[in-house]
Amino acid sequence: MSRYSKGAIILHWVMAVMIIGNLAGGFLHDFVPNDAGQRSLVMGLHKSFGLTIIGLTLVRLGWRIANPPPAFPHYFTGGERLLARAAHGAFYLAMLAIPLSGWVMADRNTRPLPFFGLFEVPKFGVDKGIADAAHELHEILGWAMLALIALHLLGLLKHLLLDRDNLLVRMGLGKGRAAARA
Ligand code: HEM
Ligand code: HEM
Repeated sequence: MSRYSKGAIILHWVMAVMIIGNLAGGFLHDFVPNDAGQRSLVMGLHKSFGLTIIGLTLVRLGWRIANPPPAFPHYFTGGERLLARAAHGAFYLAMLAIPLSGWVMADRNTRPLPFFGLFEVPKFGVDKGIADAAHELHEILGWAMLALIALHLLGLLKHLLLDRDNLLVRMGLGKGRAAARA
């Protein structure tokens, strides 16, 4: 079975870890104890990794144009192709819109926005109303991203169990027994 390019595979897995970490940090930060400032450490990392994700998404889109993904296996139906394309497109939109909304909502306060303690990231300087709306959007998009990940995993599981093809091989995991129907 054909595979994604090495660069696409590395970017996929590095970003998957970062995004899942950021979803966990975002949704669960209220449960982090704060007696020694751990919560602000978690949120500082959340913001810096989030901003990194904007850059990595742009690199990934550029890489994708230069190294187009492998064709879908020939037995994929038209509906499957459409659903996979729509879900992957929605992922790319979310990978930009979530961190951008987080960045805009940084104007809810006047605290500086450091990038891993290295330098200060400028803010947009928007009104409080816009920053509050960005906060709402950030949360809604966070749930949308969780739903997309669930759909992504259900799709893989459907292929593994019903179609008996292991699409993980296309994303660099495992080798050999690529697909019963390939
Ligand atoms: C892909 C990157 C990101 C993901 C997946 C993500 C996800 C989330 C999620 C799910 C929440 C919880 C929302 C809620 O329940 O209110 C959250 C909260 C938050 N995020 Fe992000 N985020 C990302 C990037 C960013 C960036 C770039 C910033 C700022 C520069 C940021 C700042 C914040 C802040 C300050 C909160 C806490 C909001 C509150 O206290 O209610 N996030 N994030
Ligand atoms: C936040 C988490 C994740 C995001 C944002 C994400 C995003 C994506 C995107 C955008 C693609 C399409 C790549 C392209 O055509 O440019 C893709 C493909 C793929 N992903 Fe993920 N992914 C995530 C997590 C996972 C996980 C946890 C797994 C497996 C356990 C996985 C397995 C795969 C596989 C096998 C493909 C190739 C599908 C094909 O055959 O075309 N992904 N992913």
